[in-house]
Order: sequence, then C-alpha cells, then structure tokens
Amino acid sequence: MTKPSSDALAIAAKALQAGRLVAVPTETVYGLAANAYDARAVEAIFALKGRPSSNPLISHFKDAESAFAHVEHHPMAARLADVFWPGPLTLVMKKRETSALCSLVSAGLPHVALRVPAHSMMQELLRLVDFPLAAPSANPSECISPTSAQHVRDYFGQNEGLSLILDGGVCDKGLESTVVGLFEDGPTLLRPGGVTRQALEGVLGVPLLSLPEDPARLLSPGQMLRHYAPKNARVRLNATHVEEGEALLAFGPTHLVGTPTLNLSEASDLEEAAHNLFEMLGALDASGAASIAVMPIPSAGIGEAINDRLKRASA
Ligand code: TXA
Ligand code: MG
Repeated sequence: MTKPSSDALAIAAKALQAGRLVAVPTETVYGLAANAYDARAVEAIFALKGRPSSNPLISHFKDAESAFAHVEHHPMAARLADVFWPGPLTLVMKKRETSALCSLVSAGLPHVALRVPAHSMMQELLRLVDFPLAAPSANPSECISPTSAQHVRDYFGQNEGLSLILDGGVCDKGLESTVVGLFEDGPTLLRPGGVTRQALEGVLGVPLLSLPEDPARLLSPGQMLRHYAPKNARVRLNATHVEEGEALLAFGPTHLVGTPTLNLSEASDLEEAAHNLFEMLGALDASGAASIAVMPIPSAGIGEAINDRLKRASA
C-alpha cells in the first residue's frame, strides 16, 4: 500500500494520466478519481462502483478559477467560493459549451458539479495533473462512504480496476460535501453536508431553496432514498430503548447499552458525531448485530447532514 510520499503522488498522477483510477483522500470522504476529460476513464468509475450512469459525478479542481472556466457566470458563485473553497462545498452550475468535461461526468445534464477540496494531498495531486478529477465517494453504489484508506481497501483492495490507494489518513469532516445548485430560481440545497445551511445562508443573505422529493431526484439524481446502507444490519432511528441483541449508536451521555455500543460524541458535539458517523456505522455493522439502534440527533448545523445520511441508511 502506498505511503503519502511525493513518489506516491507522482505515481498516482501518471496512473491518472494513463486513464487509470486512483483512490484519493479528501477532507470529507475518500474519492475514486479519474481524469474528468477522459470518457473511458470516467466510464470505469461507474463500472467499478456499480453506479447507474444517470447519477452524475463531482469534478474536483485545484482552485476556483480553473473550476469556473467550465461554467456560465453566476452572481453568487464567487462569494461562496471565496468563503468556502477549498473545502466541503460543491456547486452545481450551468456548463459552458466550450467545457472539455466529458458528458458522462454530468450524466448528460446541462449542469456540472464543481468542488475545490482542501485536503493537502488531494491539492498536491490536482497540481501535478493538468486535468480536473472526477470523483464520487470510493464505495460501491449505495454502501457507506469510506473515511479512511482502510475502508477503501476493504471495498476495492482486491480489484484490478483500481491502480492505487493514496493514504491521506482519516478524513477530517467524515461526511460528504454540501451540494448547492446555482439555478435560475435561486440557490438550492441539493444535499446537506460538511458546510451547514446556516453558514451558506449567512454568506448569501437569502434562504436556500429546498426541493420536494421528486424534482430533487431529477435535479440531483444521486439523492436516492436508499444509500449509505450497512451490509447486514437494519438501522432503527430515534431509539429511546435498546432491544435484545441490538447494537447501539449513541449520541451524548446515556445509560443505554447495546451489544455492542459506540458513541458518536459523548460530549454531544455534532462535528465530532459527523466525523465518527460512517466509521461507527460500519463497525457496528461488522459486529454482526442484526439491528443498529440510533439515538436521536439534533438537526441543527451539521446535524441536518447527519440525519439525512441516517434516514437513507435506514430506508
Ligand atoms: O465530499 C464529496 O462530495 C465526495 C468527495 C470525494 O469529493 N464526493 C461525493 O461524490 O460525495 P458522490 O458521487 O458520492 O456524490 C455526488 C452528489 C450526488 O448526490 C450527485 O447526484 C450530485 O452530487 N451531483 C453531481 N453532479 C450533479 C449535477 N450535475 N447536478 C445535480 N447533482 C449533481
Ligand atoms: Mg457517494
């Protein structure tokens, strides 16, 4: 397995140049990256993940300037980029006709998803290559997103389709980026994530629109209800008791005990809970319990994204 040396980065850059796939660390979750200009390479991402080709990918750039070169101007974009890039925010914007992003990246939609990630290794890699990196989370479609290189190895380590896994440590945020659509009707929250609604609205000075379920699925096809699913265990939300043999995903101080129990944050810290969420869901699933009881988690701040993931995990 590869260490985060400049050698590994050079090898990764070469592999990407040659149209191969590389797993990359970001501050949110690990991604499965390919040259976003190379339709064959992007096709390989969909194949490896078992992802429907109707579900578009995010393109990752080294900075806002190179990202915005691919899209039509939008008056709110620069303000958001100034505050939140590099970082866990994805902007969905109208693609320019001159953009070389292959159409499979955006599943043929007129809009493309752009992100400038903050992780230092990913930043270095993006500066070594002269193309953006299309990258979904590095998990098989519908499974829990990986927050460490080990998770990616567990999913794809034996797969020839993956050239290399760059190990950049445990992901800081632990939850995917917030996806905001800059549409004509107004800025729209397509997926809650690492940047909170409150922080975005504070910068924009207007409320974010939310979409009712059906159009949401059309405009952001990745938002299917079943997602982030454990392999074996059922997920039971807002648990106030634990049933016989059930595992417990706790939040805050509690006397409840499961078999086994993990606590997202004994201090009731939502950022800490987000950081631990996928790791702990995966660990409880691997414990062999048939059901995971999850204590209620407040929806404030990043709690909105935590509850979004849990709702999908339990669907
Ligand atoms: O934090 C993240 O965003 C991670 C890291 C690797 O960057 N990536 C990630 O990618 O979560 P993925 O593929 O698991 O989720 C991408 C989301 C999906 O919900 C997808 O539908 C939405 O972004 N999306 C991508 N392109 C879109 C587009 N053109 N229009 C609307 N939604 C789009
Ligand atoms: Mg994903």
